[in-house]
Amino acid sequence: MGTYVPEKRLTNDDLARMVDTDDAWIVRRTGIRERRIAAATEYTSDLCLAAVRDMERRGGRLDEVDYVIACTSTPDYAFPSVAARIANGLGLRDVGAVDVSAACAGFMFGLDLADALVTSGRARRVLLAGGETMSKVMDYRDRATCILFGDGAGVALVDAPDDAPQTLLARRAATDGAHGKELFLTSLRGEIDGIVEPQRYLRQNGRAVYEWAVVTVSAGIAEMLDVAGLRASDVDWFVPHSANARIIESICKHTGIPVERALTSLEWCGNTSTASIPLALAPAVHDGRVRRGDVVLLYGFGGGLVENGMLLRWS
Ligand code: UT7
Repeated sequence: MGTYVPEKRLTNDDLARMVDTDDAWIVRRTGIRERRIAAATEYTSDLCLAAVRDMERRGGRLDEVDYVIACTSTPDYAFPSVAARIANGLGLRDVGAVDVSAACAGFMFGLDLADALVTSGRARRVLLAGGETMSKVMDYRDRATCILFGDGAGVALVDAPDDAPQTLLARRAATDGAHGKELFLTSLRGEIDGIVEPQRYLRQNGRAVYEWAVVTVSAGIAEMLDVAGLRASDVDWFVPHSANARIIESICKHTGIPVERALTSLEWCGNTSTASIPLALAPAVHDGRVRRGDVVLLYGFGGGLVENGMLLRWS
């Protein structure tokens, strides 16, 4: 795995000079202290390429990569895809390249597809990237939303060697498209289910998303543990989408997973959407907290509304 966050920091005090808010409110309600902001000339593909370079410095090798999947809601262009830009930036030509759009659950849907490609033999090694430049679609007058989001990227190599043990213990993917208007970013269409938003800013009904996430993700986790025949106490590491510390604490309370087992990236990076899971997981893999054989529970959720969880035995 590899990660990258832009240089520029946006602190809670900085935000308090832009909208009517304060550090204490943001920390108490979200757990976020600062986020990183991409430069005007820095786009999602640049962040993903920087994360690949970090992975290469740690020994990750691209030589067997035959597929690139990039997960993002903030692509540089509608097309060419971010995946094609990454492939070009790395000099990879004989590869498949495709973008996945699943908002904050993007990395998990990308992992789901990468898993299908490598376990079916359709691909040998997938370069999976999750990157966002949320700051470019943020309305910095909307205090309930702009305090949450930040920019960043994470990448992983996904493969399935012949002698690999079974690592996927349970999975779950679900969609509640009827509630798309609770969390959206308009594009060619500037209206969604009666809400008009021609400005291409991310909009959300924070409270509705909050309540949906706690109930839905908690139920999804219970279902996956049941399928795998495991208990909450068997989970070594829980890596949920880093949306809000209070959402994660509530999910832990509902499911019985000790909150100390949760790995998050929100305190110093904010909500980085699809990048939040790799930004939380990679440091723990690199510093040896996540070890071979550990039970790792990943869970993404977000605009769609969509959710995707995987229960893994780390190998
Ligand atoms: O990653 C995609 C998924 N997205 C999420 O998971 C987001 C989920 N939602 C949340 O994280 C929270 O709902 C928020 C952080 C967005 C808001 O927290 P909340 O505890 O749900 O607050 P609220 O929306 O119920 O608002 C409570 C009060 C309101 O004032 P009144 O009406 O009670 O007077 C808001 O106007 O807090 C006010 N408020 C703020 N006050 C100070 C909203 N934002 C701010 C702010 N600073 N930044």
